[in-house]
Amino acid sequence: MESGMEEIPVKVAVRIRPLLSKEVLHNHQVCVRLVPNTQQIIIGKDRVFTFDFVFGKNSTQEEVYTVCIKPLLVSLTEGYNATVFAYGQTGSGKTYTIGGGHIASVSEDEKGIIPRAIQELFQHISENHDIDFHVKVSYIEVYKEELRDLLELETSVKELHIREDEKGNTGRISALKSGVLDFSCVLKLFLPSLEIAYSLLILEKKLNFQNIN
Ligand SMILES: Nc1ncnc2c1ncn2[C@@H]1O[C@H](COP(=O)(O)OP(=O)(O)O)[C@@H](O)[C@H]1O
Ligand SMILES: [Mg+2]
Repeated sequence: MESGMEEIPVKVAVRIRPLLSKEVLHNHQVCVRLVPNTQQIIIGKDRVFTFDFVFGKNSTQEEVYTVCIKPLLVSLTEGYNATVFAYGQTGSGKTYTIGGGHIASVSEDEKGIIPRAIQELFQHISENHDIDFHVKVSYIEVYKEELRDLLELETSVKELHIREDEKGNTGRISALKSGVLDFSCVLKLFLPSLEIAYSLLILEKKLNFQNIN
């Protein structure tokens, strides 16, 4: 890296989804394409945009995970914070990519980011007995400026607020359900495979054990 140049910690990936069958049926046209061998897309005739990563309509869930998320998971296990944020208009493919749909009914190949990351995280934990890991889960959706706690849908949106600390930094979300002890909720949401369910249960047992002592 050249001196004086800082690496930008935020990376932006764009994923183009294929036309849905109903869109094909209604004769909708593709309006965005990749520039081969670059990280650029063209919208319309000639508007070119460059990103850190671009994924075309034939990109797989595995590809997106391996390129964008896996490196973050590695640094996460080394103690760094990482955030993955899916952004886009309704219907653009956020839920599909993040893997937040009804995971139990999704095939292995179609699993998105969340089940893949959970699987790999628990794999890592099970291989590193000498390190004490504490895993907390929270799951939110920001929709029209409102927060929804996806682990506890009955929590009113009115009860969730993004709080500022005394320095004016925003970030803390009050009343958000989080934590390792709500596994029944987590399991219901994240039941991609028995393997992960099993890992979650093992972790729950370990925690109960710690609580008793
Ligand atoms: N990469 C993709 N490949 C195939 N189908 C996709 C892809 N991305 C999204 N879809 C489909 O497009 C529709 C809208 O996607 P969805 O993830 O629900 O959008 P969002 O969460 O952004 O509103 C869904 O039917 C979803 O299955
Ligand atoms: Mg969605």
